[in-house]
This record gives sequence, structure tokens and C-alpha cells, in this order.
Amino acid sequence: MEKMKLKLLYADLKSDIEIIETELEKALNSSSHLLNEASLHLLQAGGKRIRPVFVLLSAKFGDYQIERMKHIAVPLELIHMASLVHDDVIDDSNMRRGRRTVKAQWNNRVAMFTGDFIFARALEYVTIIDNPRAHQILARTMVEICNGEIIQIEDKFRMDQHIKDYFRRIKRKTALLIESSCELGAVVGGVDEQNIRRLKRYGYFVGMSFQIIDDILDFTATDKELGKPAGSDLLQGNITLPMLLLKDDATMQPYLEKVMAGTLTEEERLKMLQYVRRSDAIKQATAVSDKYLQKALKEVAALPNHPMKKKLRDVALFIGKRKF
Ligand code: IPE
Ligand code: IPE
Ligand code: MG
Ligand code: MG
Repeated sequence: MEKMKLKLLYADLKSDIEIIETELEKALNSSSHLLNEASLHLLQAGGKRIRPVFVLLSAKFGDYQIERMKHIAVPLELIHMASLVHDDVIDDSNMRRGRRTVKAQWNNRVAMFTGDFIFARALEYVTIIDNPRAHQILARTMVEICNGEIIQIEDKFRMDQHIKDYFRRIKRKTALLIESSCELGAVVGGVDEQNIRRLKRYGYFVGMSFQIIDDILDFTATDKELGKPAGSDLLQGNITLPMLLLKDDATMQPYLEKVMAGTLTEEERLKMLQYVRRSDAIKQATAVSDKYLQKALKEVAALPNHPMKKKLRDVALFIGKRKF
């Protein structure tokens, strides 16, 4: 059902997304059988490919040529994929996109090099773009994602953290890559400066909402929808917005103590999830996400008239309602 919605949303870009898909597969080709297998394992598991879509939609406001734009859309999906492979090492996650993660299927060392390999392929693929500004944006984004992931390690299991710490973290680990997808699509597509800034801000706001929804879904979605066990974030010590809003709640205390001690049973996990799902924290976190989406929609409204304006709005609305 949800996947159908996404298909509809992408319908106008179908042939271009197919080009991106073929290029992704080509880009991951390697003489090493292991690197090939490990990276294709993740690629073929699917994924929403939302970052390339942001690149293409933003470029539509300029001089859109898929043969040029693919050289920026493909690297963005590759950087995303590489960061997922590394993220699963940091988060010690065994499942992703309904499949075993690279670190689980092989091991941490293989995951480390597979991630590096995918990053390197992204850099190789983008060299054809003869615009230093594009390379600067991309490099800065990669640095910030690393910062975000390091902050996530430092903040693990820290119940005394402030909501500000959470926003600082998700900005770096997620929002910046989506912001850069929009900005780079616009820059490489030759959009004028004022609209580059609007698209960039749109990407930032949508990106913040995207991660907040991801963190809500980690509690509210089913294991099947998530492609991994619900509640994984908390069990891994990643304290996200719903939990920051609930951490002083009396009913939560015994659960939190057990999570910290690593003694939460399967039965308790399910009970805890049920409690969190019904709590006000989910509504409050959704309201925060909605605020960001409203800001994103404002940026869209300021863009010049174009058929793709509606698409940008629809993508933002999809993100607010998504189930995966
Ligand atoms: C997952 O991103 C990691 C986050 C930044 C929340 P996506 O939800 O875009 O993952 P895929 O690519 O669709 O699997
Ligand atoms: C996003 O954070 C990961 C990256 C930006 C690499 P999460 O840890 O929430 O992502 P998932 O939930 O594992 O996909
Ligand atoms: Mg993770
Ligand atoms: Mg998550």
C-alpha cells in the first residue's frame, strides 16, 4: 500500500529513476567479489531512493538534463547507502530493508570497507561535474554526517541529554544530506540563486521531519514494516524524540532501567512499545515533525510556478504520513 503511494509519487520521473537504478548497479561493480556482493546485497534490497528524487525534482526548476543530473543523483544515493552500512555497525543493527545488514551477513570489517568502497564510488561518479561548488557542498555534507554519527555515539544511553542535542544530531546525520540533495540538484541544474536557497531550505525542513518520523516509526510501526524489530533505537541506546518526551514518565522508569541494564525481556519490549504507542509523546513528536513540514511547504509556495511544485509538496506530505 505504502509502496504503491511512492510509485505514484515517482510516476512522472519513472524513466529517469530507471536510469539512476541502472547507474547505481554499474557504479557498485567491483573486481572484488566480496565488495560486489556486499554492496549489491544492500542495493537490491530496495529503499525509497528519495535523495535522487530530491535532486531531480530540484533540477526541474532549471535546465534539466538527466544525463548530467544522474552524475549528482547517483552519488547522493551512494553516500546515503555508505552511511547506512556504517550506521548499522555503530548501531549494531542486524536487519535493514528487511534483509540482514552487511555487518550481520559478513562482519564489521567487511562493513567498514564496503561503506568506504561505496563512498569512494560516489566520489568517482561525481568527478564529471565541473563545478567546484558542487564538490564543496558534497564534501562538507560528508564531513557533517561523520560528525552526526560521532555525536550519536557520544550521546548513546545518555538520559540527561537535552532536546537540543537531539536536533543537533539529526540535523547532521540526516537533514543535511537531504538539504544537499535539493541544493545540489538546483546548483547543477543551473537554478538561480534565490531559488537554490529556497530549495535548500525546503530540503533541510523536510530532512528534519524525515528523521523525526523515522524515530517515531521505530516505536509505532510493526517489525515487518520497519524491516527490523520495533524499539531498536532505544534498545541500542539511541535516545530519540519520543523517548526524550517520555523519559520522566513514571510508567517508563522500570522499562528504562531494564533497557540500560540490558535485561529487558521480549515480553517487556512488547509491553513497553504498547505503552509508548498510546502515549502523548507520539502526538507531540508528530506535531514537531508537522511544524517542519509546514516550513517546508512555505518554501515551496515561494518557488516560481512549475508543474513540479505540486510534486515537492506531495513528497513532503508523503514523508509526514509514511509508514516505512
Ligand atoms: C534511513 O533512510 C536512514 C535515515 C536517515 C532515517 P531512508 O528511510 O531513506 O532509507 P531507505 O533508503 O529508504 O532504506
Ligand atoms: C540515520 O539514523 C542513519 C544515517 C544518517 C546514516 P538511524 O540510525 O535512525 O537510521 P536507521 O533507523 O538505522 O535507518
Ligand atoms: Mg541505525
Ligand atoms: Mg531509525
